[in-house]
Amino acid sequence: MPTALVTGASSGIGLAFARKLAATGHDLVVVARSEDKLKNLADEVRVNVEVLPADLTDAEQLAAVESRCAAGIDLLVNNAGAGTYGDFAQTDMEALDREVRLDVVAPMRLTHAALPGMVSRRSGGIINIASVAAFQAGPSNAVYSAAKAFVLSFTEAVHEEVRASGVHVTVVCPGATRTEFQQRGGFAGGKLPDFVWDDAESVVDAALKALARNQAVCVPGLFNKISTVTSQVAPRSLSRKISARVSSRI
Ligand SMILES: NC(=O)c1ccc[n+]([C@@H]2O[C@H](COP(=O)([O-])OP(=O)(O)OC[C@H]3O[C@@H](n4cnc5c(N)ncnc54)[C@H](OP(=O)(O)O)[C@@H]3O)[C@@H](O)[C@H]2O)c1
Repeated sequence: MPTALVTGASSGIGLAFARKLAATGHDLVVVARSEDKLKNLADEVRVNVEVLPADLTDAEQLAAVESRCAAGIDLLVNNAGAGTYGDFAQTDMEALDREVRLDVVAPMRLTHAALPGMVSRRSGGIINIASVAAFQAGPSNAVYSAAKAFVLSFTEAVHEEVRASGVHVTVVCPGATRTEFQQRGGFAGGKLPDFVWDDAESVVDAALKALARNQAVCVPGLFNKISTVTSQVAPRSLSRKISARVSSRI
């Protein structure tokens, strides 16, 4: 059976990835800080599961996950992520630093660990989770938007570098998705209209279809597709102002 390593598999989109990948015949390596939730997942699914608890903002714990990636996996899902909400100058510096380690450094290092083996085997896949926030500057989400812009640009570049190798690399840019994310990051989310919200399972379905086609960028959901295309054609000065208005509603 192919083996998929999923970071952030203890809740939300990562948990939905783990369940879907198990249901479609993958053994799993599941990573997050909450070992109890990962063990519950291992009990729930009917495939082999390695529980690998790790805080990906900790260099030593991240190195252990890098070693597991380098030892050989067929699919890497860099999903773990978190955001901070509020004015940059007022946000705790240590929280911002952790955000960059989790959202930027961890997916970059894990991709680097997994990719050489995949390229030499001429098979495998990497899914990196960015966000619609990647497409424009995000006042009140300055570091999160910049981190996700890194994931988008980085993944597109790696996709192009390995496209002849048989390894599929896709970046997924979800919009508002009902998970624990908003609560953890201090986003209330309550003022956003119902039609903008997606569920984690739809995001996962779109991501896995895109990976199978080796599509470089996947934006799940019609509303998100329209909003990201609009922000790419609009002047940056307008995009960031619209983004500030949206942020004031979440
Ligand atoms: N939900 C949305 O609206 C939305 C929109 C766009 C993009 N995204 C992106 O989607 C991805 C998944 O988020 P989600 O919505 O599923 O949020 P979630 O429900 O909060 O899940 C986040 C996952 O990341 C793990 N995680 C957090 N900090 C970690 C750390 N330091 N080390 C290891 N694992 C850590 C969490 O597990 P533990 O707490 O157990 O460590 C959890 O499994 C993120 O990259 C997020 O930026 C979400």
